[in-house]
Amino acid sequence: MVSTRGKLVVGNWKMNGSRAANSVLLDALKASAPYPASVAVCVPAPFLRDVAASLQGSHIAWGAQDCSSHASGAFTGEVSAAMLAEFGCRYVIVGHSERRAMHGESDRLVAEKAARALASALTPIVCVGETLAEREAGQTEAVVSRQLGAAIELLGDAVAQIVLAYEPVWAIGTGKTASPAEAEAVHAALRAQLTAASAAAVDVSILYGGSVKADNAASLFGQADIDGGLVGGAALNAEQFAAICKAAA
Ligand code: PGA
Repeated sequence: MVSTRGKLVVGNWKMNGSRAANSVLLDALKASAPYPASVAVCVPAPFLRDVAASLQGSHIAWGAQDCSSHASGAFTGEVSAAMLAEFGCRYVIVGHSERRAMHGESDRLVAEKAARALASALTPIVCVGETLAEREAGQTEAVVSRQLGAAIELLGDAVAQIVLAYEPVWAIGTGKTASPAEAEAVHAALRAQLTAASAAAVDVSILYGGSVKADNAASLFGQADIDGGLVGGAALNAEQFAAICKAAA
């Protein structure tokens, strides 16, 4: 099957921003359009209405950073995928390493969140990645394969509808990036796992995340199996983020 994967760059704002600052950032991003890639920003849930109003009719999509594994009910503090869909979200990040580490999210829970997202017609951006200790112990491929495997097991052929993000935990917010070759090796292994699970998954975009900046984006995005980036810190700076999006030609 011939792939039709295009490049995608997604900004993950994490718990940053304010209504005033977001408006300035989004105006600058819109002013730098068009981009050679698909572009999206994943923002804190309270900002979704503002962000939707700002980006409606632009070529920049938006999304959230997490969703509940439940459809609705007595889950104080949780936000459902259906609620996110009401605000025009196209994407929702699930299984970011910060949630796995700080909120004890298991591979199975992350897979359940991805299933909820798909049920509400959102595209889950499923994050996988190894810690420094796991990399040093030579366990990188085993760890990411286990994490992706949980999504494949629960989703079946619907795994073809996800976006996958490989984010080595040791590279997130540290200024240490996986080299293009290190990242490509993991992406190629993930791609092989996906296509072995479902022929349709040949079109799944696999993003790289972890200290992506304007000056390293082009070499990362130039690798055969790297389909774009999931960008944290640099996504808060319009000039940096626009340059990263333009590097995804
Ligand atoms: P970073 O974060 O670009 O600041 O390293 C990436 C992420 O956590 O998605």
